[in-house]
Amino acid sequence: MKNEFIYQIFPQTFCEVGSKRGIGNIKGIISKLDYLKALGITRIWISPLTKSPFKDSGYDVSDYYNINNMFGNMDDFEQLIIESKKRELSIIIDIVFNHTSNQHNWFKKALLGDKKYLNYYIFKDPVNGKEPTNWKSKMGGSVWEYVPKLNKYYLHLFEKSQPDLNWKNEVLRKELINILKFWRDKGVDGFRLDVCNLYSKPKDYKDDEIGDGRRFYTDGEELENYLKYLNYEVFCRDKNIFTVGEVSSTTKEKSFNYAKNNNNELDCIFTFLHLKVDYFNNYKWTYMKPDLLQFWNMQKEWQLYFQENDSNLALFMNNHDQPRAISRFGNDKSYHYESATSIFGFISLMRGIPFIYQGEEIGMTNMHFDNLDDFKDVETIGNAEELKNTINNNDLLNILRSKSRDNARSVMQWSSDKYAGFTEADNINLHINKNYININVDKQKNNTKSVLYFYKKLIDIRTKDPIFVDGKIEFFKEQNFAYKRMLDYREILVLTNWTSCKENIKLKLKLNEWKVVLNNYSSINNKVLEPYQLIVLERI
Ligand code: GLC
Repeated sequence: MKNEFIYQIFPQTFCEVGSKRGIGNIKGIISKLDYLKALGITRIWISPLTKSPFKDSGYDVSDYYNINNMFGNMDDFEQLIIESKKRELSIIIDIVFNHTSNQHNWFKKALLGDKKYLNYYIFKDPVNGKEPTNWKSKMGGSVWEYVPKLNKYYLHLFEKSQPDLNWKNEVLRKELINILKFWRDKGVDGFRLDVCNLYSKPKDYKDDEIGDGRRFYTDGEELENYLKYLNYEVFCRDKNIFTVGEVSSTTKEKSFNYAKNNNNELDCIFTFLHLKVDYFNNYKWTYMKPDLLQFWNMQKEWQLYFQENDSNLALFMNNHDQPRAISRFGNDKSYHYESATSIFGFISLMRGIPFIYQGEEIGMTNMHFDNLDDFKDVETIGNAEELKNTINNNDLLNILRSKSRDNARSVMQWSSDKYAGFTEADNINLHINKNYININVDKQKNNTKSVLYFYKKLIDIRTKDPIFVDGKIEFFKEQNFAYKRMLDYREILVLTNWTSCKENIKLKLKLNEWKVVLNNYSSINNKVLEPYQLIVLERI
């Protein structure tokens, strides 16, 4: 389980084969398994493939047991399992259990007043004729939606089409277990639990006078019991099942238990504080350059804390919810290759389980959006709607350009053919980055100076060497953006510069004592790092 390198696929924009509908599909994923195998990854996490009205790109499930027909059918999925097993790749599916779609039969029945299903969700009476609390939804607006026929509000932490499930209800929990077993029995080897630290809701619902309400429902009281329950019923029954939980707005003290070894909850967790260093006062929809020092201090803190507590972090800089890290933390124009490789190398050699997101391995960048109407993502649109009241359109456009999830959801750039070789359809209704002509898999696959080549090399090194799994991590007082991994008598030094200027090396580095494992420049100087240089050295 330990020597993992995981690749995330966002199915709608990954690859389409056969159907010519202009949307990625399962056959497309199958057609790229050899590519993924050659990249060296061990598991593939696929964002939701299940039936959904697609308000939130599949994170609004209307039927947990069936495949969304825009992606194909169950035969295709079974074929995917067979073909991936042939290549010793395992499949992790996304499990969205904090909420369903409002199109799910459970919710439809609840709206008809069926008591059983009312209790699957969180319905509350109005308080003084209004919403039960003043909490704000992550998609903009209130977290409560009124249903006149029932004279009740239901809770939706995300969009109003995503009603939250009531985990207190044991009957519901059993349904959820059955869903997990269904997919496990289909041959799925892992689960990514979407926003799982929001499952446990509070006993009392009260107004939040100082925030948006999240402190009342994040990392709730019963959460660890729920995770242990899932683990006991499903995860621990098969030693190959891999689990990663998405844990939003948490602290290290609250979250380490979820992925502590032998704690019978999860294998690792995604946390996000390191990707909030360009939020102003913890608020996403602002324009700010990332605070690199804060980023670095956060990495150190979390790494050491998880090491001390024998717990596991997922290592990542990109996913379908984040703007592209190369555009955010790097210089995606003048230092494209250097930024892509240094960000990736530096993060994924730390202690934890590394994940990459489709397109990152070729250095795909943020989109360039010209107009406010260009955005498609529900979170972007919902928040823009609110922001419009307080800021002018120019500022709004700048904020959305830098923060929108649409940045990461443009089609995968396979070649310089029409639509980046992503589909053979005549038309597509997806974002496509104009730079696909220059940045694509075809161009990079035989080029030893390419981002793709560097990713392959690093993945190979990391997955073969136990030092990156079992080795201790240590940091330096005199140097930021540097760490050591140590195992037995061995020592590896990782050092980088995440700026477009040269930077002094303050460590006393005698180059004759080290051999070069990786370097994204052609030479090394023991006094200075070049812009976005990454060096990995092993003590001789
Ligand atoms: C997670 C998903 C995100 C989705 C949200 C609601 O954060 O990664 O894409 O919108 O949960 O399900």
